[in-house]
Amino acid sequence: MNGRRIVLGVSGGIAAYKAAALASRLVQRGAEVEVILTEDAQRFVGAATFAALVRRPVHTSLWERVEEIPHIRLAREAEVLAIVPATANTIAQLAAGLAHDLLGNVALATRAPLMIAPAMNTVMLEHAATQANLATLRARGVTIVEPGVGFLAEREHGPGRLADEEQLIEAIESLLRRAQDLAGERVLITAGPTREAIDPVRFLSNAATGTQGIELAREALARGAEVDLVLGPTPLEPPPGARTIRVTSAREMEAAVRERAADATVTIATAAVADWRPAVAHARKVKKTESQPAIALEPNPDILAELGTRKNGTFLIGFAAETEALEANAREKLVRKNCDAIVVNDVSGERAFGAVDNALVLLWGAHGRRDLGSGSKRELAARLWDAILDLKRQRA
Ligand code: CTP
Repeated sequence: MNGRRIVLGVSGGIAAYKAAALASRLVQRGAEVEVILTEDAQRFVGAATFAALVRRPVHTSLWERVEEIPHIRLAREAEVLAIVPATANTIAQLAAGLAHDLLGNVALATRAPLMIAPAMNTVMLEHAATQANLATLRARGVTIVEPGVGFLAEREHGPGRLADEEQLIEAIESLLRRAQDLAGERVLITAGPTREAIDPVRFLSNAATGTQGIELAREALARGAEVDLVLGPTPLEPPPGARTIRVTSAREMEAAVRERAADATVTIATAAVADWRPAVAHARKVKKTESQPAIALEPNPDILAELGTRKNGTFLIGFAAETEALEANAREKLVRKNCDAIVVNDVSGERAFGAVDNALVLLWGAHGRRDLGSGSKRELAARLWDAILDLKRQRA
């Protein structure tokens, strides 16, 4: 953490006293720590405690040294903004984008990754409002260090206790490590299913949701890349900051990819493209009273294979959705589609499309293999980017 600049926001909960110990640990590891205390935090721990620990003035108001525009300076200098503890009120403020105090302003004005460590009474934590606010922040790519279960200030045992110091340090370290290591990369990602029309209300499709591709896009943005996301039909929201083109059919996806492929430095094809489409898409809804229709199919373009024929320097990564002979089938696709690497995605059983967790293996060359393990699609997105970067650097 030597010389890395961490802005530590402390909001007004009893766990604020633990933030003082955290600040001290960060300083011992060489970090430069700027502390922002909300007004309520100061009721629990005084600014002098933090100032002595971090050896610099502590920030408590938007209106101190106004001529320095402190919220913009802190926002620009931060490499990570960590809010420990984050109270229900602060979480609501962040989710709503409110800027009525210094911490709210810095959180809005920074491009640094945000980490929050909620700590509060169990009922407040479990309240639908708090849970909805946390979901909003999670969807925006905020790292949430989940509170643990333990003895709370109100002398009850339950969830809501601030995560352990080790977990907080690990989360900050991980954000620092990956901060901006994709800066300068232009990433193109295809995601989601495609829909192939039978008539205006019916289609052929598959159960893909686009989650893994969306998480890869979110992670790439957080690490400083520019991201083009070509997204098939899904109710999921693409990450803000990505240039998203929404498409429906494989042919629309192909056209959008062609438009964006030229200047991509990394292309990842996670989309579950329908291999076939009805040869005829009826202009009007087919009526039940008509004779039983036969649907003749014709093949869709293979978007990834097409990208493989004119790579133009882009690092090309395919996904192989398999239910059997996983790695053998994936290696065959790696060669056939001329990819630099392929991700084996087991879509059998409980890992079927739409599942929350995933398990991935990255393959390249004749024998290259890296098991990325299992976990949430968000965790796997981070691990996959680490692996892609390592491989790309080896090849360079
Ligand atoms: N892909 C594509 N265009 C298609 C089909 C697949 O771009 N028409 C891409 C997917 O996005 C994925 C990779 O090719 O990155 C492999 O997709 P997959 O469905 O596993 O393989 P297919 O080529 O469709 O082969 P099969 O259905 O026989 O497994």
